[in-house]
Amino acid sequence: MNEVLSFGMVGGGSGSLIGEVHRKAASFDRKAKLVAGCFSRNYDNTLSTGKKLGLNPGQLYKNFREMAEKEGGKEDKIDFVIIVTPNNSHFEIARAFLEKGINVVCDKPLTLKVEEAEKLTNLARKRDLLCCVTYTYSGYPMVKHAREIISRGEIGKIRMVMGEYLQEWLAMSVEKEGRNKQASWRTDPRYSGNSNCVADIGSHIENIISYISGLEIETLCANLSCFLRSASSDFISRKG
Ligand SMILES: NC(=O)c1ccc[n+]([C@@H]2O[C@H](COP(=O)([O-])OP(=O)(O)OC[C@H]3O[C@@H](n4cnc5c(N)ncnc54)[C@H](O)[C@@H]3O)[C@@H](O)[C@H]2O)c1
Repeated sequence: MNEVLSFGMVGGGSGSLIGEVHRKAASFDRKAKLVAGCFSRNYDNTLSTGKKLGLNPGQLYKNFREMAEKEGGKEDKIDFVIIVTPNNSHFEIARAFLEKGINVVCDKPLTLKVEEAEKLTNLARKRDLLCCVTYTYSGYPMVKHAREIISRGEIGKIRMVMGEYLQEWLAMSVEKEGRNKQASWRTDPRYSGNSNCVADIGSHIENIISYISGLEIETLCANLSCFLRSASSDFISRKG
């Protein structure tokens, strides 16, 4: 690998949330440089986002398959790809890049089904590649401090952990107003999976609990009641 790693990004087009955060974070130590992208399913968005970021138009792609194919076929292929698309698309995108010999950094949740995550893990192992998931909160100093305190045994043996991740931005049915695309796909099980918020936000809780405590969840008691009627609550009630 070169001293400065090169990476591509799928998702993170203009109007999206987390792609820009990844771009900023990856540039902090100047050891990784964004060189390629398919920032949106809308090619015009990819072109304008790429232009704003000063990228070579030859490395802006119409879809992720074309990007994986072309970048993966180069001798100086990108070192890794960052995937920041809605949750239901992670599996196919990660698989396409791993199959072309490119390391993957995917935002949480890695996939919507355990079997899909296992397939990616096996593929990455077989090809000697990295398939990483980015869980924002383990990078916070306060979280690292909590982990240290617990590892020193300062609070004694842990018998139970209670976790909650309040989503006050979804306290009203903003997805029904059609103005918030992050809300729209997060409350629709077709994009966020049958478990809905458990995959999207529960994955953060699982990660932070195991990171801070050094323990793995053995049994889980979760309250899945809904305050609002939304696509997901309709879905849950249809499923009984
Ligand atoms: N770690 C965190 O704290 C954190 C926070 C927010 C989001 N996320 C995760 O990041 C991912 C993206 O979330 P977001 O809120 O930025 O979503 P978003 O809806 O704001 O942005 C998604 C982007 O992906 C693009 N896109 C969708 N399908 C695509 C495809 N097939 N090819 C190329 N581009 C495609 C969209 O055009 C958009 O630019 C999700 O997996 C989410 O769970 C993580």
